[in-house]
Amino acid sequence: EYIRLMHGLTDLEEELASKLKLKRVVIIPGDSEEDQAARRELGRAAAGVLSQYLGNNSTIAVSGGSTMAVVAEAVQASAAAVTVVPARGGLGEEVEFQANTVASVMAAKLGGRYRMLHIPDGLSEKSLEIILENDSNMRMVADMIRHADILIHGIGQAREMAVRRNMSEAAVAEILATGAVGEALGHYCSLQGEIVYVTNSVGLRLDELESIGLVVAVAGGSDKAQAIVAVTSAGGQSVLVTDEAAARRVRTII
Ligand code: BG6
Repeated sequence: EYIRLMHGLTDLEEELASKLKLKRVVIIPGDSEEDQAARRELGRAAAGVLSQYLGNNSTIAVSGGSTMAVVAEAVQASAAAVTVVPARGGLGEEVEFQANTVASVMAAKLGGRYRMLHIPDGLSEKSLEIILENDSNMRMVADMIRHADILIHGIGQAREMAVRRNMSEAAVAEILATGAVGEALGHYCSLQGEIVYVTNSVGLRLDELESIGLVVAVAGGSDKAQAIVAVTSAGGQSVLVTDEAAARRVRTII
């Protein structure tokens, strides 16, 4: 608390919350992109926020990503009975970054249960529909995701995420040409919060988060400032957990 006051982070939290129209912003000191200790601290702060809102029989939906992997590691055992599900399936990520992986790690740390979405990547909307129609287990998990009490997710830079998901150079250029700077849950957003491209998948949509009780975004590092503004401007977000480096840069662009 002393460190936060010393750095003026409490004022910055309030300023960003009001400008980004969020319920709450939590800023940890330092730069989590440059400093491993700050990175772990970001994970701990997000895990702390999560624990404050956990109720009995809560369902938590999680995204993938390296940030969420750190959050999952930082989570502590909960007395509440919780189930963790991936927020969205099959976005074309490496296994350790997949939402399924994060969900299983977080469930183990919480002492809760998890359900997986086993969906191959790159399917058409039509094929996804056919799978959902024919697979009752998948339908049930999809239903749990839609009714999650809490969503906690990462935010990525549009270019980095498109490249990481092995899109062709042409596809990356096309997405960036539409003005995409930020990404969350496979949704690419412009700085103004317009969703300009969506990866085909099953699960939560960024423009349909009203039914989720609490939506927590976790992202740090000054390079993610534009992405943070883009995704929070798309709406549906309640809490942002970030670091000082990102927060100070965000302040210059809003
Ligand atoms: C992805 C999530 O897995 O990770 C995205 O689906 C998020 O919503 C991204 O933007 C962030 O990744 P990282 O590694 O920068 O935390």
